Amino acid sequence: MRKDFLPFCRPSINKEDVKAVDEVLLSGWITTGKWNNEFEKQLCEYTGAKYGVALTSATAGMHILLKALNIGPGDEVITPSLTWVSTINLITLSGATPVFPDIDRDTLMVTPDSIKKCITAKTKLIIPVHYAGAPVDLDAINSLAKQHGITIVEDAAHAIGTFYKGKHIGHENTAIYSFHPIKNITTGEGGMITTNDPELIEKLRRLKFHGLGVDAFDRQQQGRSPQAQVVDPGYKYNLTDIAAVLGVKQLSRIGEINKKRTEIAMMYRQKLQGIEGILPLKDPNYEFTHAWNLFIVRVTTDKITRNAFMEELKKLNIGTGLHFLAAHVQKYYRETMNIAPGVLANTEWNSDRMCSIPLFPDMTEQDVDDVVSAIRKVVG
Ligand SMILES: Cc1ncc(COP(=O)(O)O)c(C=O)c1O
Repeated sequence: MRKDFLPFCRPSINKEDVKAVDEVLLSGWITTGKWNNEFEKQLCEYTGAKYGVALTSATAGMHILLKALNIGPGDEVITPSLTWVSTINLITLSGATPVFPDIDRDTLMVTPDSIKKCITAKTKLIIPVHYAGAPVDLDAINSLAKQHGITIVEDAAHAIGTFYKGKHIGHENTAIYSFHPIKNITTGEGGMITTNDPELIEKLRRLKFHGLGVDAFDRQQQGRSPQAQVVDPGYKYNLTDIAAVLGVKQLSRIGEINKKRTEIAMMYRQKLQGIEGILPLKDPNYEFTHAWNLFIVRVTTDKITRNAFMEELKKLNIGTGLHFLAAHVQKYYRETMNIAPGVLANTEWNSDRMCSIPLFPDMTEQDVDDVVSAIRKVVG
C-alpha cells in the first residue's frame, strides 16, 4: 500500500506562476486590471473566439449569461442532468425549467437525438457539456439548434484544450470555461465566458460589475471609471489580477499540461485493460483531441458498490472524485421534478457507477501503478 495519500487532483503550479503572482501582489494594482485584459485576450487567441470576459467562476458566468439572454419563467433550457449542479441550480433560480436529455452510455455526451426529443416551443437554450475533456458532437448539435432557432452555450468547464474536427471548441458558440483547481488550468477559482457576439459581451461586462456602463478602455486603463453609472442592475463577479496573472501563466503551458494528462490517461487505459468490473469511458466516434480533464471509470461489478469502491480506495491512500451525481436524483430535484426511474436510463446507470481516479500533470508512472494495483485489490 502507498505510504502517502494520492489526491485525485493537484494543481500544477510552478515557480514562474508564484513569481508572477508575487509581482502583481507587490505592484500596487491587485484587482481587475491589465492582467484580466491579457487573460481574456490570450484565451480568445487560443480558442478562436472573438471576445472574452474573465469572472470569479464558471457558475458566475452561467448566472450572468442566463440573465443577459433573458432566460426566465416560461422558458425551457436543455442540459444534461449529469453535470455539475450549478448549471441546473441557476436555470432553476432564473425561473426557467431545466429539461434533461439522456446521454450516451459510454461517452457521457448528450446526443443530437436525445436533445431533439426535448425540444418544444418553449426551448430557449441548449447547454451541452463537453464531458471530461472530450467534445460533444458539435456539428450535429449546432445544425439541430439552427434548424429550431435555439441558442447554444457550450459548457466548456472541462474543455480547455479540447478540439473538435481540428478547431478548439467554443470558437463558434458562446462558451463558459472554469478555472477551479481541478480544471486543466487554474486561477484558484475563476471562469471565463467567450463569445463572438459584441452586444452580448458588452452586456456581460456590465452584469459582471454592478451593471455599470464601463467601457473596455476604462477597464484597461483605470480598472473602473469613477463616473460610471448603472445601466442595468448587475452583480460583482470580476476576477482579481492576482488570479488573472496565474491564468495567463497557466494558459501559456496548456500544451505541456495536456500532454502530461494525455500520457497518464493512456497509461491508465493500458494498465486497466482486463480488470473485470472496471469500465473506462469510450472515445466519441468523430475526430477530436481530448483535454483529459478527468479519467472516469464505471464500477460494473456486483461485488462492490461505487461508494464502497471509493471508500476502499481511500483506505489504500488513493483519492477519488464523483463527477457527477445526476441532478434529478438529488433531493430537491427528485422531489420537484419527479422524473420516473428509467426515463434517463444511461444517466442513472452512470450516476450510480462512475468514479474519477487520480489524474493531474505531476503524477508519475509509479502513482498510476499504485492506483491500478489498489483498484485490482478492491475489485478483485
Ligand atoms: C461541467 C461543469 N460545469 C460548470 C462548473 C462550474 O464551475 P465553477 O466551479 O468554476 O463555477 C463545473 C465545475 O466543476 C463543471 O464541472
